[in-house]
Amino acid sequence: MDRAGFSGKPQNVSAHSLEDIPEALRDTPNAQNRPRMKLMFLIGGLVGLGAIALSAGSWYVASALQKNAVSEPVGVSAPSPAPTPAAEKVNSPDSNSETLLGHFVYAEAPTSELKPIVANGQIKLRQAAAKQFQAMAAAARAAGVVLVPISGFRSATDQEHIFFDVKAQRGQVTTKRAEVSAPPGYSEHHTGYAVDIGDGTAPATNLSPNFDKTKAFKWLSANAARFSFEMSFPKDNPQGVSYEPWHWRYVGDRDSLETFYKARNIKP
Ligand code: DAL
Ligand code: ZN
Repeated sequence: MDRAGFSGKPQNVSAHSLEDIPEALRDTPNAQNRPRMKLMFLIGGLVGLGAIALSAGSWYVASALQKNAVSEPVGVSAPSPAPTPAAEKVNSPDSNSETLLGHFVYAEAPTSELKPIVANGQIKLRQAAAKQFQAMAAAARAAGVVLVPISGFRSATDQEHIFFDVKAQRGQVTTKRAEVSAPPGYSEHHTGYAVDIGDGTAPATNLSPNFDKTKAFKWLSANAARFSFEMSFPKDNPQGVSYEPWHWRYVGDRDSLETFYKARNIKP
């Protein structure tokens, strides 16, 4: 091997101190050093072969993983993308451009997906939520508790009246109105997964914070999760919406879960 550039023996260097100089900087090997050089070449060769084997192995594993990601259903075993710094931040309504006055934007449920949850057909929820609400109401009834649905699906047009007309009637400023009512396009009721619930034995508490004193509320607090319902606006919720113990949403399937949690990146 031509060691051009390293061929001049270092000046004033004793044999002992030569050992302290890295191999690459030492003089051309002499006859005395040959057995050691052979050993070094052997070790070097083995290390080189190892490196080649390692990179071939990682290439094989990487391509196998890639094939798997393509052939598996999305969300089952595809490796999740590394979180971006922005996605790591817990989203608050203030930092989300899809929010208005603390409320998230929601699409209206397709009419074909809605099912009535009352005998006169006036209150509807999305199919999966309707089924679970009815199962929940039956379980409550068996325990002597009367859950009464007050409001379910609402269109953006319905919400327009609720937001603007009631605001005008009450003379409320926009921010105050938004504490108790979502602007049109921003109500969980558009999704068909949200339901306002009253206690059949205490109608005076309907849509009032006092609903949390009722048997219905106590029963819901202990049992609603079994039916995949949760309270949307507990006290001091991060959205800044008033406490609404009567307003519950269904989160029991993929669509509902994504509807309420995906864009928000809320960590448990
Ligand atoms: N009352 C809740 C915030 C709504 O209007 O959707
Ligand atoms: Zn509600």
